[in-house]
Amino acid sequence: MLSRVQAAPGRRLRVDIHEEMTKVAFNIIARATFGTSMTEPERNRLSDILTRIQAFYVRTVRQPYLRPWFTATGTFGRHDAFSRELRELIRGYIRQRQAVSPTAAPPDDLLQMLLDARYEDSQEPMSENQLLDEVNILLLAGHETSANALSWLFYLLAAHPEVATKVRQERATAGLTGRAPEFSELPQLPYSQQVIQETMRLYPPAWILDRVALEDDEFQGLPIPKGTLFSIYLHGLHRHPGLWPEPDAFRPERFAPDAQPPIPAYAYLPFGGGPRLCVGSHFALTEIQLVLLEGLRRFNLAPASAALPGTDPLITLRPKGPLWLDITTA
Ligand code: HEM
Repeated sequence: MLSRVQAAPGRRLRVDIHEEMTKVAFNIIARATFGTSMTEPERNRLSDILTRIQAFYVRTVRQPYLRPWFTATGTFGRHDAFSRELRELIRGYIRQRQAVSPTAAPPDDLLQMLLDARYEDSQEPMSENQLLDEVNILLLAGHETSANALSWLFYLLAAHPEVATKVRQERATAGLTGRAPEFSELPQLPYSQQVIQETMRLYPPAWILDRVALEDDEFQGLPIPKGTLFSIYLHGLHRHPGLWPEPDAFRPERFAPDAQPPIPAYAYLPFGGGPRLCVGSHFALTEIQLVLLEGLRRFNLAPASAALPGTDPLITLRPKGPLWLDITTA
């Protein structure tokens, strides 16, 4: 996919990095889930529906007073129709897969793992609706989050060319120039991992998490009655001046193992924590590191504007509007 973004030698290409990274991340999660059984137009349609549904339903949650308006204008109806279309598309893939002859070699993808999963007690498989929900959450949770992390990452590298230079140097020192690294080689590039961690500190894709109190509780004397809906503001936590020196500065070195001061416990939660910790965190860190290394191998990047890009905090923290970068061939 990165090969499609090509600037002619000596020429500059202006790209909306968020649009490109959304395609890259969706292709990665769609191929990991469905293998190669989905065509590109089908993947694009799925991605488009998911984005529309997400953008709309988050408005109904955050601006509930607009609901009568959405009902009156048929907006709910249109988006419910998108949801049905999405489920029917995915149902089609599940059924297609179930129809594959049992003697054929099973495909090596997430859909097959879900189909093969059995409850420990009853040995029953999941129902079709459960499978649909699982596939949907993988596509949704594994798409926008990674796309946003990658977009902010390339923006920050464009704005901080000295950091991009250090990533390239680390790679050269590890003898990994000229090709994509293997999975087993990724830990040999710890600085590139610190760059990703620092990006998700400044721009946590999941910028807010919602919880409901199951029992009456209290926090530092503040009563929290049962049923209270409250939010954990990760963006604020990650930029808290009491926890992070120069909180708004992009400094990947703060994540070095010997960095001083060390990162306080619970100050950094890009993948959440506890029982609902992101199940895709290793998947995400791997894909982001690979795309970062391949991107920097192919391109030099510069921001198209000196202005700080705005943010659009929906369920995930997206850039507001296109995020233009100027790309030249490295
Ligand atoms: C940079 C990328 C990602 C970020 C920042 C991220 C962040 C998160 C966070 C914060 C949660 C916890 C939500 C909560 O506690 O309310 C979560 C849950 C989840 N994530 Fe991710 N995620 C990323 C990528 C992925 C990927 C690639 C996948 C799939 C392959 C994935 C699948 C999931 C799933 C299924 C859950 C729900 C887990 C559960 O409730 O048991 N995520 N993610």
